[in-house]
Amino acid sequence: MADHAILSIDGKSYEFPLVTGTENETAIDIATLRGVTGGITTLDPGYKNTGSCESAITFLNGEEGILRYRGYAIEDLAEKASFLEVTYLLIFGELPTQQQLDKFHQDIKEESHVDEDIKKILDGFPKSAHPMGVLASLTSALTAFNPGAVNVDSEEEMYNAMVKLLAKFPVLVAWTMRKKKSQPLDYGSDNLGYVENLHKMMFARASKDYEVDPVIIDALDKLLILHADHEQNCSTSTVRIVGSSQAGLFASISAGISALWGPLHGGANQAVIEMLEGIKQDGGDTKKYMAKAKDKEDPFRLMGFGHRVYKNFDPRAKIIKKSADEVLEKLGVQDQVLDIAKGLEKEALEDDYFVKRKLYPNVDFYSGIIYRALGIPVEMFTVMFAMGRVPGWIAQWREMRLKKEPIGRPRQVYVGETLRAFKDIKQR
Ligand code: SDX
Repeated sequence: MADHAILSIDGKSYEFPLVTGTENETAIDIATLRGVTGGITTLDPGYKNTGSCESAITFLNGEEGILRYRGYAIEDLAEKASFLEVTYLLIFGELPTQQQLDKFHQDIKEESHVDEDIKKILDGFPKSAHPMGVLASLTSALTAFNPGAVNVDSEEEMYNAMVKLLAKFPVLVAWTMRKKKSQPLDYGSDNLGYVENLHKMMFARASKDYEVDPVIIDALDKLLILHADHEQNCSTSTVRIVGSSQAGLFASISAGISALWGPLHGGANQAVIEMLEGIKQDGGDTKKYMAKAKDKEDPFRLMGFGHRVYKNFDPRAKIIKKSADEVLEKLGVQDQVLDIAKGLEKEALEDDYFVKRKLYPNVDFYSGIIYRALGIPVEMFTVMFAMGRVPGWIAQWREMRLKKEPIGRPRQVYVGETLRAFKDIKQR
């Protein structure tokens, strides 16, 4: 392949270098475009054809359904690693030794206290507040209680901010759920593993000793790994662009939580269960919902289906679908909604509309079925997605900051009114 691209405008030719990554993805480097052409830029709503950065964290191939974190296949990590190991891998680029992992976990435990005044913010929310809005607010509030974690330039200062977030975020996730359920807050235990401690803070009953159920912890650990990063998706791009103004880690993550909330993104896992429940209430009439999804006049979309990048099976959906069967069987849970989901998937994969558009189940299609079997309320599903994604957000924020990338500021093509004279209100 040539090492440059040539753009011809009005008989003038411009050369731009080609950038090729380690997986042979190629991009046209247009950093000089506006300068050499006297102001011409590109236009790409939704950035469907635009790369925002070079990154060494996550590789995915949408055509082949491949997902790797730092070169390791998601299938291997989901089966063989823990969520805390994957967190370390995403952030620092290597799987940790036992000693590195133990120190990382100890540093996190040291920071697991959340300022008592944050509870006053939590108390200020109505019980009806959506947990994603509560979580975004509490995460942003961490800045007020940890001002030293904002202007971080050195690797050490960044490490301290990252460890604070990894320590306090599970507490905020658990407190968000307890607020919803009007339950007393739980502070966890340093004697437990990272995911076990999250589960204890979410579910422990004040009147009962907490017992670890390995089936539940293994399922939760695997789900968190599968959500941990996904290159430059909507919420990660949000974290990067907010972080590029040097607003600080907690503010950047809070913005990412808000972006993830949308039903077209992380909010889809809640929308999937609501859709499947709707079909169940409707007597399991999947054909009616398939018709709605294909009807251009109907805004309804088959939630949990389709993906900006995957034009093949989302590898995470494959793993979660298999895990759903295993977890429900081990927990002795019958959920008719799982059968409806499988029926819907089968119909869609045989339907020309979906096949032609390469619409397959994505990560959100089956995840809610496991969350529900684990006793997690449906409004908390996207919060669990955020809990899983925090390591990826942190890793991407750190990569952007260490590379000292410029503040993100896209251009536009103005299509509004041209210059016109002001009219006094009496003349309007
Ligand atoms: C996540 O980017 C990431 O990596 C995200 C994520 C991550 O880990 O961070 O993977 C997590 O967000 C997964 C996606 C969760 N969202 C949903 O499940 C919501 C339902 N899916 C869609 O809204 C949609 O598929 C998107 C938003 C996921 C992707 O939309 P695109 O890439 O902008 O595609 P599009 O809207 O241009 O659709 C192309 C065609 C259109 O039809 P035509 O105009 O060509 O006739 O496919 C149709 C769409 O109408 N289509 C669907 C559909 N998804 C796309 N039709 C019915 N149901 C759907 N779900």
